[in-house]
Amino acid sequence: MKNNLSLKKSITLHKKIFSIYGLGNVGGPIAAAWLKKGAKVIGVDVSKNLLEEIKHGNSHKHEPFISEIFSKSLSKNALILSTDGVNASKKSDIKIVAVPVAIKNSKIDLNIIKQVIENISKGLKKGDTVIVCPSLPPGTCKKILLSILEKNSNLKAEKDFYLIYNPERIFEGRALQDIEENYPAIVSGIGKKSQIFAEELLKIISKKGVISMSSLEAAESEKLFEGVYRDVNIALANELSDFCKSTSTNYWEIIKATNSQPFCHLHYPGTGVGGLCIPVYPQFVINSAKKFNVSTKLIEFAREINDTMPKKCANESLKLIKKSKSKKMKIAVLGLSFRGDVYDSRLSPTYSVVDIFLKKGFQVAVHDPFIKNDDLLPKNVILSQNLSEIVKNASLIFISTDHKQYKKLTKKQLTNPKNIIPIFDGRNILNKKNFTGVKLVTVGKND
Ligand SMILES: NC(=O)c1ccc[n+]([C@@H]2O[C@H](COP(=O)([O-])OP(=O)(O)OC[C@H]3O[C@@H](n4cnc5c(N)ncnc54)[C@H](O)[C@@H]3O)[C@@H](O)[C@H]2O)c1
Repeated sequence: MKNNLSLKKSITLHKKIFSIYGLGNVGGPIAAAWLKKGAKVIGVDVSKNLLEEIKHGNSHKHEPFISEIFSKSLSKNALILSTDGVNASKKSDIKIVAVPVAIKNSKIDLNIIKQVIENISKGLKKGDTVIVCPSLPPGTCKKILLSILEKNSNLKAEKDFYLIYNPERIFEGRALQDIEENYPAIVSGIGKKSQIFAEELLKIISKKGVISMSSLEAAESEKLFEGVYRDVNIALANELSDFCKSTSTNYWEIIKATNSQPFCHLHYPGTGVGGLCIPVYPQFVINSAKKFNVSTKLIEFAREINDTMPKKCANESLKLIKKSKSKKMKIAVLGLSFRGDVYDSRLSPTYSVVDIFLKKGFQVAVHDPFIKNDDLLPKNVILSQNLSEIVKNASLIFISTDHKQYKKLTKKQLTNPKNIIPIFDGRNILNKKNFTGVKLVTVGKND
């Protein structure tokens, strides 16, 4: 695969055209990063709704710069939107895959990525490059995706086309900045030529350069280990915070001191772990390990600890109130996002907390400053951005997400001075000084 023009030049002269499959939280910012470098991009997505939003300049509302970059690029014809994955593959040279991998009842569902790779394979040409970004069980690129690409195209990887794995490492809300500035890009290739091309290519957008891995499987594992580390560390925090309760000590005070030792990075305990990354990647490792008869006891146990946190916290909070036999009591749950200050509620522990309260016969109302509507909450649960409406007439307040704005809350905003109600702070987000005289129980604290 000879290349006379420098790679950078062939991209800016639109001699090498990109297609990006999936324009969501990850694919959108990747497309924007290449557009900023002067590339021509065909953005492919099955969501006609999303493509319409992009056309009207109101997509990616919570990711700075993306929508503006898209609008500018559409007007210059540098960005083309399509739902036709095969045609986009025919018309592009560098194909980037950024679609999700689902997990249902602990089973990994690769159908979406397989379908996208199938579409790419039908338009694959000599000299093309395929870059896979989603987090995957180790071996997926080589054992599953490679054969789809080769079989349908009649081409050979490394000889006729490059196959690269480049896991995305972004934090929602600052994804473009992460891609361009904050992390080195992890790259790996099916062979030496793919790998060298990956290094050369990703250096163009990644200011921190690249970390080149020796195999696709190593890079696939790297990404999963990031999630496993976080999940196990959070489980450890949950366990140690229980220990603190039993020894009448304060976890938060202790970890401040503990983490001043350079090898300690103890995480925070809380109501549970959500999102499509941290609770999901350990499952990829657990499932893969089973095939090789390798033990993953620690990882499984950490999952179990974190998965039981919503129930444990909900039950602990209920100890603060006496259930009335005569009237249905209301619990106000603060926070639906899986993490503070994000608009994403996928796999949020709040769903389990709400479910437990409903099953115990309480009325539940949820506040979230970032999420307006949600289809997964049961219909009898009110979701609102109006805090006073949610806490009105509540008998208990349960804080589920560490949104920064909760830090500033005061007694007056959450509880009626004539009828002070208890609060369970599942994230240690409230400022205790603002709640004198309130029965306030905080995860990891004794007072
Ligand atoms: N969100 C994160 O913070 C994050 C961070 C690192 C890695 N990842 C990885 O990136 C992957 C994608 O995550 P995301 O958050 O961008 O998901 P997302 O749901 O925000 O976006 C995925 C997009 O793919 C589109 N899509 C679905 N099927 C398609 C198909 N057949 N053809 C074309 N488009 C299709 C969807 O319409 C959607 O717009 C995940 O698997 C995850 O492993 C995510």
